[in-house]
Amino acid sequence: MKALILSGGHGKRLRPITHSQQKQLIPIANKPVLFYAIEDVIEAGAEDIGIIVGPNKDQIIETVGSREWDANIEFIFQGDPAGLAHTILVAEDFLGDEEFIMYLGDNVIKGGITRHSDAFRDLDPDSLVLLTEVEEPQRFGVADLDEEGRVRKLVEKPKLPPSNYALVGIYFFKPLIIEACKNIGPSWRGELEITDAIQWLIDNGHRVEASIVEGWWKDTGKAEDILEANRLILDEIMPKNEGVVRDSKVFGRVILGKGSIIENSTVKGPCILGDGCRITRSYIGPYTSINNNCDIEGTEIEDSVILEECSISNAGRIMESLIGKNVNIRENGRRPLGHRLVVGDNSDIVL
Ligand code: TTP
Repeated sequence: MKALILSGGHGKRLRPITHSQQKQLIPIANKPVLFYAIEDVIEAGAEDIGIIVGPNKDQIIETVGSREWDANIEFIFQGDPAGLAHTILVAEDFLGDEEFIMYLGDNVIKGGITRHSDAFRDLDPDSLVLLTEVEEPQRFGVADLDEEGRVRKLVEKPKLPPSNYALVGIYFFKPLIIEACKNIGPSWRGELEITDAIQWLIDNGHRVEASIVEGWWKDTGKAEDILEANRLILDEIMPKNEGVVRDSKVFGRVILGKGSIIENSTVKGPCILGDGCRITRSYIGPYTSINNNCDIEGTEIEDSVILEECSISNAGRIMESLIGKNVNIRENGRRPLGHRLVVGDNSDIVL
């Protein structure tokens, strides 16, 4: 089986971080979101993986290439992100005549997808979609199921939802989906929608099965989703100390990377501190991920994701925050007291 992982798109809802960085590279528990998708499809048996790349393609190619993978990986350039079904057309040569998994590169799911790929193999339908029960189906693509649990209809953001089962960004397809994508037109938002292509399969008498996700699933499209995914992943980490702890208190499950130093500080897990970090006179609280080479001094940080190379000193208390790469936050020691800000477009600051 092949896999198509989508790592293009603009990621507008995650600006300003996505001005300079493709959203699928934002780390959750210090690992790029995209890596969870790659690991899942390999575990489910994919030997050839096509990764759809868009605006910041070089970053994706470089980051994925920085690690060894137990599969062949090729990159497929999409150009303008013209919709999920458009990516299948762009990948037509790569997909050939094989079954494949399509996995949105900003999705994270507990426990991988092997159970669902087994269901696809056993039921042998033209498509199998993953569904999860949600509280507000009005905000999602929703499936209407028949008595046997097959998909009868898909509706985008329905006012009167036919069920509470929302579509997760992971799908299994037979090659027939390529023909479906060729037979649909753009939606009102100008994109070729995967829901329309799946609906085409159903309307033309083909079988679409559903597989229900039992654990958590997260689409990391917005900052609060990144923080939530970070909490969910950190809830499952095992402690590991490859650094140095001096005159400090470390409680709970904490991962401390190589060459990192915690000094005169308190660290309460679950949290992860990458390689080459320095934590001095600080408090690092639960559900915090601090990436490599960060320097934190005289600051309290909790429930946050901090990307690499940040320097934060005497910054008070930082919580529920997503901080990009190479950010410098420090106390303004001058009088009168006040905030001095140099902030990029589309930033979001709560003081
Ligand atoms: P979305 O989150 O729906 O779109 P987006 O990434 O452009 O984000 P935003 O709405 O904030 O601007 O996309 C879902 C996933 O599919 C995401 O990983 C990006 C990817 N994608 C592509 O690779 N090509 C596309 O044409 C589209 C629409 C999305």
